[in-house]
Amino acid sequence: MKDFVGVIDSGVGGLTILRQLTENASRNFLYIADHAFCPYGTKNEQTVFRRADTLTGFCKDTGASEVVIACNTASRFAAELSEKYDLPIYDVVAPTCRQVMETTVNKRVALLATNGTIKGRAYRNILEPLGITVYDFPCSSFVPFVEQNATSTVSCYQAVDQALSNLPKCGADTVILGCTHFPLMLLQISHYCPSAKIVQCCCNLPNSDILQASPTVEYLTTGDVDFAANAAKWYGNISFKHISL
Ligand code: DGL
Repeated sequence: MKDFVGVIDSGVGGLTILRQLTENASRNFLYIADHAFCPYGTKNEQTVFRRADTLTGFCKDTGASEVVIACNTASRFAAELSEKYDLPIYDVVAPTCRQVMETTVNKRVALLATNGTIKGRAYRNILEPLGITVYDFPCSSFVPFVEQNATSTVSCYQAVDQALSNLPKCGADTVILGCTHFPLMLLQISHYCPSAKIVQCCCNLPNSDILQASPTVEYLTTGDVDFAANAAKWYGNISFKHISL
């Protein structure tokens, strides 16, 4: 496959972004789920950088013309990796912030994200200078439930309650699902913010001259292929190939 768009995430959360991308562009895509290192949100910055670096380098070496970091936790490395690999690299934080700016009226927003995203301050760095107050809700505990396809379990509902019981008190009119895994828990999350507007992550892949008549999508995981397929069941019957990276 040549001239493809590489789409990378720690696991299956980035498929929520891939779905938007495939709907909007007739391009070849290569999705890489880094299950061997999932989750990213509780790992230190160097580890997440190294993984994003490795996955981006692989995409470049195998013929990617662009890379989408479909992961908020790793998005902060987009500019550095773009320079290193001389490749257009798109993140999900900046375009999502643009949606937030158009959505919030009272300029109070709740950020539901991994511990790593919150610590990295990517959303705050963009939104606070615009006079928007960001209330952090660390929700790394949600990610394994999505990966294990276990979002309907009692333990998942308990984890959501623990993380979000104070959400109604902050007065936010907008809630950012600042992790690509979280749209898969929309039902559980929206219970805690029934009147707020929910903004999901997005990515703006610019229009390209490279269009495919019969676009293909391939799926790789650095982990177990059956685990990956089970985690991605909501997306369809995906056949992952294993890759050691
Ligand atoms: N889906 C990713 C994000 O948007 C990472 C989740 C994780 O691996 O902790 O941040």
